[in-house]
Amino acid sequence: MPETTPKGLTGLAFGGDYNPEQWPESVWQEDARLMREAGVTMVSVGIFSWALLEPEPGRHDFGWLDRVLDLLHTYGIRVDLGTPTVVPPAWFYRAHPDALPVTAEGVRHEFGSRGAICHSNVHYRAAAADITTRLAERYGDHPALALWHVHNEYGVPVSACYCDSCAAHFRTWLARTYGDVDAVNEAWGTAFWGQHYTDLGQINPPRATPTVGNPAQALDYKRFADATIRENFTAERDILHRLSPGVPVTTNFMTALSQCDSIDYWAWGREVDLVTNDHYLITDGRRTHVNLAMAADLTRSVAGGAPWLLLEHSTSGVNWQPRNPAKAPGQMARNSLAHVARGSDGALFFQWRQSRRGAEKFHSAMLPHGGTETRVWREVVGLGAALDSLSTVRSTRTEADVAVLWDWHSWWAQNLQWRPSEDHDPRERADAFYEVLYDRHLTVDFAHPEADLSSYPLVVVPALYLTTQAAGDNLRRYVEGGGTLVVSYFSGIVDEHDAVHEGAYPGALRDVLGLTVEEFSPLLAGERVQVTGPDGLALTGDVWTEFVVERGAETVWSYGDGLTAGRPAVTRHRLGEGTAWYVSTRLDAHGLDAVIGRAAEDAHIAPRTDLPRDVEVVRRTGASGSHLFVINHTATDAKVPLDAAGTELLTGERAAGRLAVPAGAVRVVRLDG
Ligand code: GLA
Ligand code: ZN
Repeated sequence: MPETTPKGLTGLAFGGDYNPEQWPESVWQEDARLMREAGVTMVSVGIFSWALLEPEPGRHDFGWLDRVLDLLHTYGIRVDLGTPTVVPPAWFYRAHPDALPVTAEGVRHEFGSRGAICHSNVHYRAAAADITTRLAERYGDHPALALWHVHNEYGVPVSACYCDSCAAHFRTWLARTYGDVDAVNEAWGTAFWGQHYTDLGQINPPRATPTVGNPAQALDYKRFADATIRENFTAERDILHRLSPGVPVTTNFMTALSQCDSIDYWAWGREVDLVTNDHYLITDGRRTHVNLAMAADLTRSVAGGAPWLLLEHSTSGVNWQPRNPAKAPGQMARNSLAHVARGSDGALFFQWRQSRRGAEKFHSAMLPHGGTETRVWREVVGLGAALDSLSTVRSTRTEADVAVLWDWHSWWAQNLQWRPSEDHDPRERADAFYEVLYDRHLTVDFAHPEADLSSYPLVVVPALYLTTQAAGDNLRRYVEGGGTLVVSYFSGIVDEHDAVHEGAYPGALRDVLGLTVEEFSPLLAGERVQVTGPDGLALTGDVWTEFVVERGAETVWSYGDGLTAGRPAVTRHRLGEGTAWYVSTRLDAHGLDAVIGRAAEDAHIAPRTDLPRDVEVVRRTGASGSHLFVINHTATDAKVPLDAAGTELLTGERAAGRLAVPAGAVRVVRLDG
């Protein structure tokens, strides 16, 4: 069994990406001294260093990296060592221009940024294996080495390449997956629009076509891209396991990033020794702490509930959004500790020292351009001390209340072209349902639709357009066994090949929901419908409506106007020991909360009316005891009831009864017992 925690770390990890090659060696000594001052315990090194490590083909220069690792070791700082395979050197591309990725339109990218990689390219694969082998041979048992960091953020900026090598590789993948061309024709429904193939050799990647291409082909290409990129990860990982036994191997995920559209993190979570994640606040006016909590919950879920590690976030603003606000005083620590509350065994940043040159010089860092006489630096030092006091949190597990289903394949399928409405965005629904659960102070586990759900009293399905028969059966068993299910519209529609399930919609979920949908009736932009329900409670829907027919379910809310007036809008179906709810329109937050409130009653989940809005309460429990995290995201002091007395770890004070949490502050109580 490979190791799953960074070697040699006893408490929580704290640090960041360290790119010393940007600085003269005279600066390194100061870096190490300041890292120690800030309480840094681990840094990520060498992620983009291939061109310096191998300045000419086959000629390596490890001297500078030797000195960096030795220096860090002298200062007691652990190293997360990168394999630099996200940026092959310029000379490599001169020799192998075909390793540059090609877009669906046939445009070949150029060298000059990072991540310009065709993952099918044999020259790239050989070169990546070679540099990984050399690094593992040289540093595999270096005393500073804690963790291997393969590549960087697989899946961005290029999620799929459409070149000729990828075309050949895709055909091999098809042969392996389907056996022969007839099976491909069947799966893709090529009888439509005369797309029939008589030989696998006729099949190409879904390159630019005059009008919309075959959706099942496009969906399979994402699966192929995912599998191909994963082959390159596992190749590097296996080299590292062989040459550097006992050191865990990771690659940094971006679990909640919607642009990353060909990585199935459920599959990747099984391949890494330790799940690590990068998270940046998306500052588009929405509540950033809710998105952060969602990303952290999703990352923990991908890790199977085990502790994971936040490998990158920012001390303050980033520089790649249209507008990049600084973090408010105290916000960085709230962010870091919210990740820890939801299962991260530490908090690391991009990056240690802010760059003076290059594309990310306006991205914040632990040590800003302004040096140590800055607010950010003082907050970094404070965070180091805070994390140091939380060492007993390490290895404990976050306790979840409910589950939300999540499936990248369904998401890919739903985002293909020519759907009933472009206003329906599955990610938006996932965010909206999550936010309602967050505001009810329920901690969410994300689950694959075919996973065992029996431990959750409530399971929410925000949008699961692609639902396999196995997933449908799973949800039915869950409800029959006593679970409460809430399903949003346009779920259960197609199988794994994007083929509509036989019979009336929603094919895979008809039985469990006790209804059929005769027709979808999406609304025009800005159009709204009234939905009226119990006690005259009126809700508002937009984007989507449906002609629902009850077949066992009861109508709880019905459409008040529009084409579907008088028909069921929200239904409830008693089945076996449980209950299944269906929401056939896009409700706003208020409406969703009303439905979730009713479902929570069915699930016997008591409302947490004792907790103020935006005061986040999460529990991590394990051999070292139970830790209650309370994060006050508001500008008002809050009080939170404790069900046991304990010690507040950040202040060292005893806590009992009602815990005071000042505006913007975080408290972590290690409960007695
Ligand atoms: C990503 C990358 C980092 C850095 C940060 C900040 O997470 O992994 O190298 O570019 O974004 O923009
Ligand atoms: Zn390619």
